[in-house]
Amino acid sequence: MSSKDWTDILPKKWVPLYQSGQMSGVCAFLDKMSFKKSDHIISGSTCMVGNLPGGGEMVLKLVTKNIPFFTHFPDKSVEGFKTIINQQFSGFFLPIHNVLYDDGSFFIYTQRKIKILDYSEIDPKNFRQILDILKKMFTERIITPDIISSNFGFLDGRLVLLDYHDLKPVELYLKEKKWNKVVRCLMEFASLLLYKKPFEQQFNESFSSWRGEKEIASRNYAAAYFPPHITDVFKAMSSCDARCIIDSITKCQGASSGAVSGTGTSQNNGDVKARAGHAENKDKHSRGKDADVKFKSSRKETDGRETRGKEPRGNHGNETRDKVRNTESRSKDKVRESKGKEVKDREREAKHKEVKVKVKEVKEDKGDKRKEKNQSGKRTSHGERESRKHRD
Ligand SMILES: Nc1ncnc2c1ncn2[C@@H]1O[C@H](COP(=O)(O)OP(=O)(O)O)[C@@H](O)[C@H]1O
Ligand SMILES: [Mg+2]
Repeated sequence: MSSKDWTDILPKKWVPLYQSGQMSGVCAFLDKMSFKKSDHIISGSTCMVGNLPGGGEMVLKLVTKNIPFFTHFPDKSVEGFKTIINQQFSGFFLPIHNVLYDDGSFFIYTQRKIKILDYSEIDPKNFRQILDILKKMFTERIITPDIISSNFGFLDGRLVLLDYHDLKPVELYLKEKKWNKVVRCLMEFASLLLYKKPFEQQFNESFSSWRGEKEIASRNYAAAYFPPHITDVFKAMSSCDARCIIDSITKCQGASSGAVSGTGTSQNNGDVKARAGHAENKDKHSRGKDADVKFKSSRKETDGRETRGKEPRGNHGNETRDKVRNTESRSKDKVRESKGKEVKDREREAKHKEVKVKVKEVKEDKGDKRKEKNQSGKRTSHGERESRKHRD
C-alpha cells in the first residue's frame, strides 16, 4: 500500500475500491514511478489522467478494466486493446504509446499529451474528420458512442479520438438501438459548424428534451434546425443499419461545405438560412454576453472537466414555441409597419396643412402688399401730382 492518500485525485467511483485495498498494487506502482499528486490533471469516469513523471509531453492514464471493451471482448488483453487502437484505428485514434502496468482490475498506459478540441475549432475540416472517425468505427465494426468534444484532440494538426474506453462491437451497439447520444453529439457539432454556437445557446432550448430516441424521432430529427444532408445522418443512425449509416455519412461529408447556403435546395434549407440570419442579427445585439458564454463553455472543454453523462443545461423550449415566437415577431412587424404608415400619414397631413397655411399666408401677404402698393401708389401719384404742381 502506498504511503500517500490518493482519494482526492481518484474518480469518485473508485474510492470504495481504494479504501478496501483493491488498488494497493497500482498505487504502489504509481509511487514507485514517482507519480505525485501534483502530476494529476483530471479524473474522468473511467480513468485518472496525469503527467507522466519525467515524460515530457506525455500523459499516463490509469484505467479501470471495468469498461465495455473488456466486458465485450473478454478474451482480449490490454496488448490486444493496444493493437486495435494503434493498428486498426491508425490515423483516427490517438495511439497508446506504452502499457506500463496491468493487473486484473486496472491498467496504466501512456499517450502523447495533446490539445483537446475546443468548440471554436469546429470547422468544415474538423467536422468532416469527426464524421470520418464515426464512419471508420462502423467500418471496423467496433464503436464508442462517447464522441463528446472533450474526447477529441489534435495530433500533429489532425483531429483524433483520445478516449476509446467505451468501445464495443457495432452489432451490439446497433442491436441496443441507443443512438441518441451519438446524434446529440452530432447535433452539437453541427450547430457549432453552421451557427458558431452550441446547440442550446443557438436554439434556446435544453438538450435534455432531446435525450431519447423517441424524442429525436418525434421532432423529425431536428429538420427545422439543420439541412437535410445532416439530418439524413441522424435518420440513418436510427435505422440501426451500418451500411445505411456509412452511406449517409459519406453523402454528408460530400455536401458539408460548412456554409449554410451550400446545403441544398429544399424548403428546409430556406428555414435554416433564415434561422442563421436571425441568429446573426441576435448575435450583433448580444455579442458581449455571448462571448462570455462562449468563453465559459470553451474553458470548460479545455480544462478537460469530464462531461460524460452530463448534459449542458439551457433554457427550455420546443419547436412549437419557436414557431409561436416567429409568428409573434411577424405580427409585431406588421403592427410596427402599420404604425409607421400611420405616422407617415399624419406627417403628410401635417405637411399638407402647413403648406396650405403657408399658401394662405403668402396669399394674404400678397394681398396686403397689393393693397399697400395701391395705397402708396395713390399716395405717390397724389404726391407726384402735388410736387408736379409745385414744380409747375
Ligand atoms: N492524451 C491526452 N492529452 C491531453 N488531455 C487528455 C489526454 N487524454 C485524456 N485527457 C483529458 O482527460 C479527460 C479524461 O480522459 P478520457 O480518456 O476521456 O477518460 P474517461 O474515459 O474517463 O472520459 C479527457 O476528457 C481530456 O480532457
Ligand atoms: Mg472521456
